[in-house]
Parts: sequence; structure tokens; C-alpha cells
Amino acid sequence: MKNKIEEIIRVDHAGERGAIKIYDGQLLALQLLKADPDLEKKVAEMKEHEKEHLKYFEQQLAERKIRPTLFLPLWDLLGTALGFGTVMLGKKAAMLCTASVEEVIDKHYSDQIDYLSKYEKQEKDLISKFKKFRQDELEHRDIAYQEGASKEGAYGILDALIKISSKAAIEISKKI
Ligand SMILES: [Fe+2]
Ligand SMILES: [Fe+2]
Repeated sequence: MKNKIEEIIRVDHAGERGAIKIYDGQLLALQLLKADPDLEKKVAEMKEHEKEHLKYFEQQLAERKIRPTLFLPLWDLLGTALGFGTVMLGKKAAMLCTASVEEVIDKHYSDQIDYLSKYEKQEKDLISKFKKFRQDELEHRDIAYQEGASKEGAYGILDALIKISSKAAIEISKKI
């Protein structure tokens, strides 16, 4: 189904761009207000993977003539704010932000891989890229937990908020 593939590429483009904006926000806070060279290095490394992911979806949008979500400017703003804010709350919150988002994205990529493998077998390149990207995201999640991501107490609320917002952004970006 053409529309379904369009939705998949549009939402993934939005998500990967959002990931970069979150890390941009985190790096901004780390550079301006909260020096933590170790954390900054980890975030910068993860951002490099997201750039590779985003580049692929930008190419896909162009090749298939799919328009990006109209909400990009809002996601840019909210992503940057989320990144900046979580660093200001401390390292545990900053790393929880990555863990929470990646847990949503793990399921998201898995569902897409299942769908494509079942109904769009000819999309071999998409399927293999999604598998690779999903592995990268799982690595990010693992790094986040190694670096102290926590869901205890109030962090559990933050986790729930980030997950709800990510899922809402996903549903909107598929359609609009
Ligand atoms: Fe990514
Ligand atoms: Fe990631």
C-alpha cells in the first residue's frame, strides 16, 4: 500500500529529526550551563548515529516524493526543549529521556519491520535499514541505562510523560 509506506517514511523522518533535536538541546545545556564532558561525549556519539538515520529518511522522502510532516517546526522546538530540560534536571533525567524514547522507538521499528516483512517484501532496503537502525536505538537505550537512567520515584512520571508525548507525536506525524 503506497499510503502506508508514505506514513512509515514520514513518521520515521520526523522521529529521527526529533532525536537529533533532543540531543541538540542536551548538548546546548551541557555546553552552556551544565558542564559534564563525559555525558557530552556520549550524547554527541549517539547524535552521530541519528544523523545517519535522518539522512536515509531525507533521501527516501526525496526519492519517493513524500512531503515531511507539517509539524516539523513544532517537533524541533519541543525536542530541543525536552533535551535542554532533561539535562537541567540532571544526568539521570537526561539519560532517562534517551531510554524512554528508545523504548518507544524499539517497538515502533519492530512493528514496521513486521509489517513490511509481511506485506511489502519487495522493500528489501527499507527492511534492512530499519533492522540496523533498531539495533542502533537499542544500543542507545543500553548506554542510557549504563549511564544512570532511572525510573524510580518522580523519574517514573517523567518516563510516562516522555512516552505519551512521543507516541502522540508519532500518531500525528503519520497523518499530517
Ligand atoms: Fe535514530
Ligand atoms: Fe537513538
